[in-house]
Amino acid sequence: MIFTPTMTGIYTPDPLKYAFTVKTSAHSGRSGCRPISIDQNEWQQWFSIESRAEKRALYIHIPFCRKRCSFCNFFENATKPSRVTEYVNSLCQQLAGATTTKFIKSELFDTVYIGGGTPTDMQANEILQLANVIQSFPLKPNAEITLEGRINGFTHDKFEAALAGGINRFSFGVQSVNTEVRQAAGRFDDEKTLMQRLSELAKHPTATIVADLMFGLPGQTFDIWMHDVEAMISTGIHGIDLYQLINLPGSRIDSAEKKGTIYERADSQVRSSMYAQGSRLLEQNGWDRLSNCHWRSDKRERSLYNSLAKQGVEIVPFGAGAGGSIHGHGLMNGRDLTAWHNAIKAGVKVPSMVMSINESSHIDTIIKKGLDKGTLTLNELSLSLNTHLQPLFIKWQKNGLIEFDNNKLSLTLAGRFWNVNMLAGLFEYLATNPLLAQTV
Ligand SMILES: C[S@@+](CC[C@H](N)C(=O)[O-])C[C@H]1O[C@@H](n2cnc3c(N)ncnc32)[C@H](O)[C@@H]1O
Ligand code: SF4
Repeated sequence: MIFTPTMTGIYTPDPLKYAFTVKTSAHSGRSGCRPISIDQNEWQQWFSIESRAEKRALYIHIPFCRKRCSFCNFFENATKPSRVTEYVNSLCQQLAGATTTKFIKSELFDTVYIGGGTPTDMQANEILQLANVIQSFPLKPNAEITLEGRINGFTHDKFEAALAGGINRFSFGVQSVNTEVRQAAGRFDDEKTLMQRLSELAKHPTATIVADLMFGLPGQTFDIWMHDVEAMISTGIHGIDLYQLINLPGSRIDSAEKKGTIYERADSQVRSSMYAQGSRLLEQNGWDRLSNCHWRSDKRERSLYNSLAKQGVEIVPFGAGAGGSIHGHGLMNGRDLTAWHNAIKAGVKVPSMVMSINESSHIDTIIKKGLDKGTLTLNELSLSLNTHLQPLFIKWQKNGLIEFDNNKLSLTLAGRFWNVNMLAGLFEYLATNPLLAQTV
């Protein structure tokens, strides 16, 4: 077998800090799928046959933001109310049309995610308009329906409209509560305003309120980070993500780095301590860990969309810039708004990149789900694959990233911090040391 340090990590007395050098991407997947072309007839055919997915999700993209945040490259179009209205009208028209197709009608949806961009920047009537169309999809009873966005501008009338339309989960990007860190990152609210509104929203008796925090932001010291986590706990919200800052190409932070402008921010070693202490604090306060980066304080939080998305279930995407998968094919809609509007007006397929079927998706699902949750049940893998992967698992164990527990492989704290590197390493191992009939 051929091994590289990017597959196995390295042996060190402190694997949390040093097993790998740096986290390079937010997610990892197997390469090998290639773009294919789908014409209008084939596209219609896809919508006239039944879905074979056991679980599936609907993803709706709202590609507008009022401001470009320093760390993010999801900014696509500046918010202009008339443009958003025009977009929401076209989107609702397309969604309503889709609900009449056999493909959409054939299986229930477990979860819906309205993501962006900043969906909370839609007007209250637009949120309700979109929510009403979503209700005409075949949804599972108690389906999780999430609206993503930011606290700033999410007024009471928007919250009421969303709830009236059946939206039951709200995911806010907080990133840090510290006013200076927030301002440097391009966020609007100061700490006091943010904390008041989040605490107010969290009091709702049924709605699920979750927040994203990031560690490693410019100016965010270890003490500021601990205060960020403590502050979130004190608001009474129901779920939290702790995301490590990734250098996203095209973000302001990335461009500044390329130009050599120095940003003072934590290195990978300090970030590993931020992750360890942040997760410890949550767990000491009774929060349950649902995955390596997500915790909940209340059982109303299920985080269905995120966990299903990581498992590679069918995600039917709508909107310019939306990504997902249909009938096993990965799909990414083009970001160009004009081209998207023109296609909707002409009643044809919106421009998108369609990928060939991932023949290994069954295995990838088991592996991704296991590593994301922190526990991989080995007999879910075929005997041949399990045997083939054992040399890698033994290296991981020696390097302090996993422990074996009967038939399970459990990530250590270090493994949880470096899980994306491990997943990339596992796929690299399979590409370098191929196993015939891997899809068994
Ligand atoms: C697509 S963004 C949308 C969030 C929302 N528009 C907002 O302004 O908070 C979703 C989440 O991705 C995370 N994110 C964005 N850029 C990131 C980066 N460079 N590294 C890690 N996480 C990032 C942030 O925590 C953010 O809340
Ligand atoms: S963090 Fe949110 S508001 Fe900021 S640029 Fe990214 S998507 Fe837009």
